[in-house]
Amino acid sequence: MAALTFAHHMLLSKPSFFLHSTKTIAKTTNGLNAFISASPPFLRRHKSTQTIASSLLELGGVQISKQDVVKDEPTNNVPDLIFTKLGLQLHRRDNHPLGILKNAIYEYFDSNYNNQFNKFDDLCPIVTTKENFDEVLVPADHVSRSYNDTYYIDAGTVLRCHTSAHQADLLRKGYTNFLVTGDVYRRDSIDSTHYPVFHQMEGVRVFSPNDWNDSGMDGTLYAANDLKACLEGLARHLFGAVEMRWVDSYFPFTNPSFELEIYFQEKWLEVLGCGVMEQEILKRGGNTDNVAWAFGLGLERLAMVLFDIPDIRLFWSTDKRFTSQFTKGQLGIKFKPFSKYPPCYKDMSFWINDSFTENNLCEIVRGVAGDLAEEVQLIDNFTNKKGMTSHCYRITYRSMERSLTDEEINELQWNVRDQVQGQMDVELR
Ligand code: PHE
Repeated sequence: MAALTFAHHMLLSKPSFFLHSTKTIAKTTNGLNAFISASPPFLRRHKSTQTIASSLLELGGVQISKQDVVKDEPTNNVPDLIFTKLGLQLHRRDNHPLGILKNAIYEYFDSNYNNQFNKFDDLCPIVTTKENFDEVLVPADHVSRSYNDTYYIDAGTVLRCHTSAHQADLLRKGYTNFLVTGDVYRRDSIDSTHYPVFHQMEGVRVFSPNDWNDSGMDGTLYAANDLKACLEGLARHLFGAVEMRWVDSYFPFTNPSFELEIYFQEKWLEVLGCGVMEQEILKRGGNTDNVAWAFGLGLERLAMVLFDIPDIRLFWSTDKRFTSQFTKGQLGIKFKPFSKYPPCYKDMSFWINDSFTENNLCEIVRGVAGDLAEEVQLIDNFTNKKGMTSHCYRITYRSMERSLTDEEINELQWNVRDQVQGQMDVELR
């Protein structure tokens, strides 16, 4: 379960506060070794038994090697498989659903705001805890700061868990209308709408007293109205005539804060978080008299709806049957599933202890099974007379691309059991 406060998984509502998340993996097993987790009893990392080829990538103009990101140290909880996602930048591919969506949003802003918005889509996802948390006023004890929710490279450096991490810096640099698109990282549960890497777009617009003086409103109300009008227009640009509603929300960096939900397939779907920026953030950036709005939207969530993509893992697929269905500039195309391979369910039960978290379990499952893990679901939970609590989890394995054999699934499951036993202080039943 993710943290709490930013609009979080925009997908299917979990109470948290950032907007959304994801998963990965390349089916190699060495990802497991790099795994580590939250609080002390869980801070055990297994030494890697395989030598990992060192690769060098460029992120926002910075050269990064694997050793810079995945470290065998207690302050680092980045698994190998997360490293494999760095630098892929799906949002910069014009033929990819996320790139098509990004471009459609750009189009809306360009035409409605006369090309005033500066666009950034190549900022490095490795940021300081100051940028990711402090500068957007995330309280010191906020759950999103925990090792259970965020990927730490070291105690002061994280993989950004939201694009809001760039707000303060860009304001300091003097930008007043900007969009930031990027990959963001969150430890989380496993299901069709959550993956530990996903993509967000942040928007910020700063107003000066001249803008609102004649309106008869104060700056905050003026900005809130402008924000809502802007985002309702965006939703119509993307979805046509949809039903939508505003829900009051909470984010440490905005006040008031809202979420926009749209009615889709008989459900209200949270698609973005936003609000009037906390004055303190503007002040620190040298904008003392100004007022601003900010929003953060989850691209996967919107793209799943717009393109009828049923599982978030598909965004990472290199299978031509997926990639060939999308074309630059074509927002309306509906994905045609090329097949549905059978799922395989495996249950496992264990007595938990105080340090157990579902995110840690899911990290192990992803480390072992990669994109073959479709869902991890708590199906039974009880406490016995001695006060011991048992959890039973159902793991669904399924490939998007082929049929799995019993043999390989059994091997995955044994591997998961092994890792769970070895790395989490739980007693398998
Ligand atoms: N950063 C928030 C999240 O990830 C979204 C957000 C951005 C909310 C800007 C308000 C303003 O959930």
